[in-house]
Amino acid sequence: MNVLMIGSGGREHALIKKILESPRIGKLYCAPGNGGISRDAITVDIPVMDKEKMVAFAKENDIDLAFVAPDDPLADGMVDAFEEAGIRAFGPKANAAVIEASKVFSKNLMKKYGIPTAQYEVFDDSQKAVEWVTSNSVAPCVVKADGLALGKGVLICPTTEDAVNAIKTIMEDKKFGASGNSVVIEEFLTGPEVSVLSFTDGKTVKPMVSSKDHKRAYDNDEGLNTGGMGTISPNPYYTDELAQQCMDEIFVPTVNAMAKEGRPFKGCLYFGLMMTPKGPKVIEYNARFGDPEAQVVLPRLKTDLLDICDAVIDGTLDKLEIEWSDEPTACVVMASGGYPESYKKGIEMFGLDDKGQVEGAVVYHAGTKYADGKFYTNGGRVIGVTAKGADLDEALKKAYDAVGRISFENAHYRTDIGRTK
Ligand code: AMP
Ligand code: GLY
Repeated sequence: MNVLMIGSGGREHALIKKILESPRIGKLYCAPGNGGISRDAITVDIPVMDKEKMVAFAKENDIDLAFVAPDDPLADGMVDAFEEAGIRAFGPKANAAVIEASKVFSKNLMKKYGIPTAQYEVFDDSQKAVEWVTSNSVAPCVVKADGLALGKGVLICPTTEDAVNAIKTIMEDKKFGASGNSVVIEEFLTGPEVSVLSFTDGKTVKPMVSSKDHKRAYDNDEGLNTGGMGTISPNPYYTDELAQQCMDEIFVPTVNAMAKEGRPFKGCLYFGLMMTPKGPKVIEYNARFGDPEAQVVLPRLKTDLLDICDAVIDGTLDKLEIEWSDEPTACVVMASGGYPESYKKGIEMFGLDDKGQVEGAVVYHAGTKYADGKFYTNGGRVIGVTAKGADLDEALKKAYDAVGRISFENAHYRTDIGRTK
């Protein structure tokens, strides 16, 4: 089976390493990929949003499966483009990817189908939004840009003044571009956060093992929100009882709601959940694998990922049993100094050769370049180091052990992954 992976981060590297375990894999390509990915797959220099070139490449190279991993090309209809060209593709079509691409859509969906989430109001006029937050004193609240904003369009507002500023930043200054044409203003919820990725073929939903992301840049959850500085799996707050409740009240109702709306969701549906005192609620949906959630969830997958992709595309997921390892995993992200704000690129990396590696640990490349036998930094999040262990402590110890052997100037990582709420 010839596969084309679309994307260039740590998530895509984790998907690639998992696909390489399949006895069914033939040629494995990745567009555009990165330095680390280029050691495991044939990288192809096509921009991630270029549907035409992707489809043409797939046709010319007998691709049997295109795997669209990132949110932007999904929202832009890349899966639709492959299907129209007769090429099988993993991921939701644009009309279903909207569950992530528009928060207004997802909030209205949840309201219509009674799926638990924070209470909210939608505004497309900043003046009206400001009037509403001031006259109803809704703070603390959360102001969210409607569209995709690299996970940065969510502003937590402890006071009314913060909320007014957030509305202006998103809707008037257009800090996140057109994604801020509308905003969702919602109730501030509290409780541990849990990420649950799932496979769904539009009818059946099979949750994967749970995980926990650490979004803030610095230890003790200080600093700005990032794409994710580390993850563990399973999530210690996600009990069997909560899992059953989420299945009944959130996962199944969401998949059924999308089907009912004429937008069957096929692919990986990510549930960002908060375990509030009033039960589990949806914080957000993503239409794809999370990053760095994929880096702790996929290493625990025992079933052939290509078989799962087939079942998702063919609508036969109900017939496939998906198996997971009981061993916990931990991933520590090494980022460029300064991330998520400005940082330097092109810094030489050391310790990535085989000799320096820790048994049971694997390095997923997120933002690296490979040239003349050396790796250089090429992004904010540079690598994610994942390890498995008999328990979480052992997984963390191995992951940090491996991180300690890798270095580059101004490398930054959190030292408390798996240790905070
Ligand atoms: P999102 O990009 O939607 O995942 O939001 C980023 C982060 O903001 C989440 O992981 C939460 O920590 C926080 N957040 C989003 N919505 C809420 C809410 N209604 N109440 C409290 N925290 C929230
Ligand atoms: N780690 C969160 C995300 O992928 O959106």
